[in-house]
Amino acid sequence: MRKTIIAGNWKMYKTINEAIDLANNLKRELFKVNFAAVDVVLCPVFTALSEVAEVLNETDIQLGAQDIYWQDEGAFTGEVSGLMLKDAGCRYVIVGHSERRQFFGETNETVNKKIKAALKHGLTPIICVGENLQERESNNTFKVIQEHIKGGLADISAQDLLKTVIAYEPVWAIGTGKTATPEQAQEVHKFIRDLLRKMYGEELACSIRIQYGGSVKPENIAELMAKPDVDGALVGGASLKVDSFSSIVIKASEVLK
Ligand code: 13P
Repeated sequence: MRKTIIAGNWKMYKTINEAIDLANNLKRELFKVNFAAVDVVLCPVFTALSEVAEVLNETDIQLGAQDIYWQDEGAFTGEVSGLMLKDAGCRYVIVGHSERRQFFGETNETVNKKIKAALKHGLTPIICVGENLQERESNNTFKVIQEHIKGGLADISAQDLLKTVIAYEPVWAIGTGKTATPEQAQEVHKFIRDLLRKMYGEELACSIRIQYGGSVKPENIAELMAKPDVDGALVGGASLKVDSFSSIVIKASEVLK
């Protein structure tokens, strides 16, 4: 049994006050329903983490960050460590998002270091993998995913892998309104699970949660979640609005797995 996980990646949106408002409104909206079947995670910008942590205190909604640096402290201007994210109240951290790979030089090696740093501090890394349009059109999707998984997970033990979440986010579906079809998502999720089966064995492969990300909306969450290897969603744009994000959480919790 894998518990559904719905995470909101707020990207570089929301000032502190806006983030507090959004978290408060989501808290109020989700309080009205029973979302016990779903892990819900909010990932605001660094500057809003502490305040959002305060809003979420004593709720079942968890806090996550959008990135992490692998050293605990030091002369690394602009970076934030796992120690500091833990201190701010985080339980999760997104690692290797395609926007970081694309615009900030993230590689499978740095992703691997960041996963290890997150685990060291008891943070659950949400490990993002996914091909871009050119890679998909040249039939290299599985090759790219395999490189992301194998490189990112180098030297990660089975015991540690159990404390992670994988997010499949096809780059061509992010922020484009062009969602992968449920069949396309399932195909890659199954490929990832089969790969993990080869690397870590049956039991672990069946336990690990794989989220889908890329233009997830209230209108498409149910059909995505209905696929056997889709265990949740990493939501960008639709996580910035109370109505759409709470509706995604509710609809995901209604899909019987
Ligand atoms: P969108 O939901 O806006 O396509 O973003 C997906 C994403 O990148 C989540 O990490």
